[in-house]
Amino acid sequence: MVDREFRLKGLRFPNRIMNASGCWCTSANELIDLARSSSGAVVSKSCTVSARAGNPLPRYYHDDIMSINSTGLANNGCGFYCDMGSLLSKVGYDKPYIVSIAPLKDGDIEFLLHQVDATPTVDAIELNLSCPNITGKSQVGYDFEAVKRLLDGVFATRSKDAKPLGVKLPAYFDKSHFTAIADVLKCYDIAFITCINSLGYGLVLSDVLDPVIAPHQGVGGVGGKSILPFGLANVFHLHGLLPHIPIIGCGGITTKKDVLRYFKAGASMVQIGTELIKQGPSVFDAILE
Ligand code: DHB
Repeated sequence: MVDREFRLKGLRFPNRIMNASGCWCTSANELIDLARSSSGAVVSKSCTVSARAGNPLPRYYHDDIMSINSTGLANNGCGFYCDMGSLLSKVGYDKPYIVSIAPLKDGDIEFLLHQVDATPTVDAIELNLSCPNITGKSQVGYDFEAVKRLLDGVFATRSKDAKPLGVKLPAYFDKSHFTAIADVLKCYDIAFITCINSLGYGLVLSDVLDPVIAPHQGVGGVGGKSILPFGLANVFHLHGLLPHIPIIGCGGITTKKDVLRYFKAGASMVQIGTELIKQGPSVFDAILE
């Protein structure tokens, strides 16, 4: 049996299921929906220093077995997601509000951390190391040296009472990659690991052989039911290598049984992405029963 509640660095999660960043969490109304839902936390859309319009439409598609997205970090800017903290607390929710941040260039990370840390109504930070949809940018999480440089900078200036900071990782597919990222992450006070992000660089073609999304000739991040085995294996390997860091499992959850699969693999909490977009925030009731 797994306790319903979870505690992490002084934060209390009333239950262990929340939205995946990017899903139902970009606009004020969506965030309020999540605050009012039975999710155990609210995670914001990954935000950048300034608002971004993102990629051309259509940029999201799903069917029974998978989803594909290339939103291109469309978001309202970090200031908006920090300000949402006080609005969400007025809604009366009693669960952590986690702001996901996505630095795009040198200097962004300092700005983003400063802004989020200075906002009392934000409880924790999820640092996105795995966005696959930005033209000319690779997923940072696949460059272990770059992750090390970024985290060296982050933790050099973080005080003991700074907000808990977790990282959102891409999926890894080889044992050497698990040990390489674990060797980096073990050097820092990482509050949690969220894995996996959507699988980068998938291509979905329709029955008439057209790309189903417009950006990047149809190439984007793949989520949904099909990616469950990769999410489970990533949680399993990283939990084995870094047993002291709580893991938020993500990828392919459609049922309560899938949640139990993630717990069995070593996750402490889980996030729901594609299935949340399909069902809306009542998905949390359906899964929590
Ligand atoms: C986007 C996609 C991601 O998988 C992610 O982690 C961040 C942003 C996007 O396309 O907006």
